[in-house]
Amino acid sequence: MARILGIESSCDETAASVIEGETNVLSSVVASQLSVHAKYGGVVPELASREHLRAIVPVVREALEKANLTVRDLDAVAATSGPGLAGALLVGLTYAKAISFATGIPLITVNHIEGHIHAVILESALRGDPVELPALALIVSGGHTHMFEAHAVGGYRLLGRTRDDAAGEAFDKVAKLLGFGYPGGPVVDRLAPFGNPRAVPFTLAKMKGNTLDFSFSGLKTAVLRWVESREMGAEIGVRKELLQRTPVPTDTEWLAVTPPATLDLLASFQATVVDELLRHALSAADRTEGIRSVIVSGGVACNSGLRLAVNSRTVGLPVHFPSRALSTDNAVMIAAAAFPKFRRGEFASLDAAAEPNLALQ
Ligand code: KG4
Ligand code: ZN
Repeated sequence: MARILGIESSCDETAASVIEGETNVLSSVVASQLSVHAKYGGVVPELASREHLRAIVPVVREALEKANLTVRDLDAVAATSGPGLAGALLVGLTYAKAISFATGIPLITVNHIEGHIHAVILESALRGDPVELPALALIVSGGHTHMFEAHAVGGYRLLGRTRDDAAGEAFDKVAKLLGFGYPGGPVVDRLAPFGNPRAVPFTLAKMKGNTLDFSFSGLKTAVLRWVESREMGAEIGVRKELLQRTPVPTDTEWLAVTPPATLDLLASFQATVVDELLRHALSAADRTEGIRSVIVSGGVACNSGLRLAVNSRTVGLPVHFPSRALSTDNAVMIAAAAFPKFRRGEFASLDAAAEPNLALQ
């Protein structure tokens, strides 16, 4: 059975994984750079490239060791070629090229967003509940908010995308603004259940043109206005101090420095984002003929509020989420997305370029 090594380095995770025969995950290693970027409140591209350079050799070595293999036992090596940060992508892609050159095994380039879709296809197959295609794929992460129609033969049609911030970026910016540090999604997710999601009535702009497109920057500005009008500087300062003392505060520690009105704000913000995603997914599924299931993937797919809201009952179609481990960036999804290309003999040349704005089609 064919074995593929997948490598992912498009943003702030250096990851490697070996998969055998489509679905047998032999290893998955993810080195996160969160602690490096946290103090800057977001990913710093130059630091990301440097950290990938440091991590790539040990991460790939560990993935091979865990799989009990050497590069000679592989049938192909796959790497993310885009979209993502140019310098970050180059590290993983160049390393994959080096392996391909040294061993003679083919190189496969994978679109990061297609990877997020394949994380779900792989896990659903393993659960014995395969994704029925064509599917509506909602990819929501720190870098992307895209909705695609995904077909069996790997064809994709873009139905809608964000015109400004990605959904995860909105979580991150709002959390940073309120003194909750980076990344914001997980903290907001954990604290939102303590607030009233209907306390702050946010409204989202109506989209002109493609009504399936998203926009989250207005919501971020609305949160900023709310914060300014309530003079929240002191409590935000207290949270920033907490973060300086304790890089990863517990929920109890956060709750001790977050008044009920702020918890209401977090809950209302999250509910608005979730509502917007659900509304668009429903409308896209409704308008697109032949859709048989819904896939939700990307870091924001971890969100409990989103998982509760987007289910088979509300959507009227089978809904597939990845496990939390495969929602955020990983290399299992890159190796999984490489398998259909491997079968089709879709190999990349050794001068394949990193493409920061690579589109999925
Ligand atoms: O897929 P990912 O690891 O990287 C990108 O491709 O961007 O996604 C990271 C994003 C961050 O913006 C993070 O705040 C968000 O996913 N995120 C969440 C949650 N966990 C991670 N957003 C909302 N709720 C969560 N539980
Ligand atoms: Zn991602």
